[in-house]
Amino acid sequence: MTKVLVIFGTRPEAVKMCPLVLELKKRSKIECSVCLTGQHKEMLRQVMDAFDIQEDYNLYIMKEKQSLTAITIQILDKLEFILRKIKPDIVLVHGDTSTSYVAALAAFYQQIPVGHVEAGLRTNNKYSPFPEELNRQMTGRIAEYHFAPTPSNKINLKNENITNNVFVTGNTVIDAFKTTVTNNYIFNNAILKKYQWRGKRIILVTAHRRENIGKPLENICNAIVRIAKEYPDILVIYPVHLNPIVRETVYKVLGNLQNILLLDPLSVLDMHNLIAHSYLILTDSGGLQEEAPAFGKPVLVLRTETERPEAVEAGTVKVVGVSSQDIYRETRVLLEDINIYQKMARAVNPYGDGHASERIADILENIS
Ligand code: UD1
Ligand code: UDP
Repeated sequence: MTKVLVIFGTRPEAVKMCPLVLELKKRSKIECSVCLTGQHKEMLRQVMDAFDIQEDYNLYIMKEKQSLTAITIQILDKLEFILRKIKPDIVLVHGDTSTSYVAALAAFYQQIPVGHVEAGLRTNNKYSPFPEELNRQMTGRIAEYHFAPTPSNKINLKNENITNNVFVTGNTVIDAFKTTVTNNYIFNNAILKKYQWRGKRIILVTAHRRENIGKPLENICNAIVRIAKEYPDILVIYPVHLNPIVRETVYKVLGNLQNILLLDPLSVLDMHNLIAHSYLILTDSGGLQEEAPAFGKPVLVLRTETERPEAVEAGTVKVVGVSSQDIYRETRVLLEDINIYQKMARAVNPYGDGHASERIADILENIS
């Protein structure tokens, strides 16, 4: 039996690790346990509930307005005890959060091999996204096994001389749709359930990134106000991240418009099905850049660059930056010009066939 300990702590990691956990739990040669760092609390629980997975350990580290230092110190300290107790053969971490990097570091300190799921994404700009770019570079340096979603992620690793045990598997986010997306879906969120929004064009918005907090987030919100006022027939739906600093800006600028619906974070079931009902997505999220193209929904990325160039190359995703004027202009183009809209609204899925978790599990079953 290979003892696998899967460690994660935030919403996006959970969306992408839960399908893998479900797969690992099916395998007879693998003993899989789950440790949550609890970097997120409510938003993490929403995903665990959606996949019906109960964690084995939880470090419960989240504090309001937590600093990167506090996250790092607490996870490193608390994981030492867990790793000594479980003595896993391999630790799996995901992506680029502080949880991912610190969990990999904690495993390294115990000389436990690390498998990095969603390996090889890069902007090569240390401060964008911050601190994620360096988190994933350092995790890649520590890891023994690299599960890269796409061939270009593998090339990124090769450019850093990481060539051993690199596997192109697809992204487990596509696997997640098997659990989350259903026909004739009925929303759980009470407001969405009763809202008369069907038939309206929906602009789905999410924005929360650390480097966007402050002026960039204000710009994003101001652009949305302009669009909402100019197009009273469209509906903006923005499930707002629980970060109090994000909520302060968003509610202050967007709180009082009749065709802007500000919601608490949605369950991933509601969220994935809402993507399917949307006309257009404005986001600074990484995950949404992978999810929305699979549904044929154009994405305007509220950042200056992306580590996910595949859907940009395919034409479904466009990086528009964080100036209010640019966001307003690009959104307007998609609302006004049906030809440009339709060119972007082609279902594109460069992120896999929904079997990434099986590939990763196969590889893990065959390591000794
Ligand atoms: C973290 C990740 C980021 C990822 C994002 C996904 C790091 C450094 N950042 O950023 O890469 O894109 O998660 O959402 O790892 N909060 C709650 N309840 C929750 C979750 C958050 O109240 O369930 C509040 C807390 O006040 C917390 C704050 O949000 O202090 C920020 O959370 P944190 O994990 O530090 O940063 P994110 O911006 O969520
Ligand atoms: N998501 C969700 N509910 C929401 C907003 C997002 O379930 O209210 C999902 C989204 O579909 C994606 C993931 O959460 O799967 C993205 O997480 P987030 O935006 O927090 O992080 P990022 O992708 O930026 O790292």
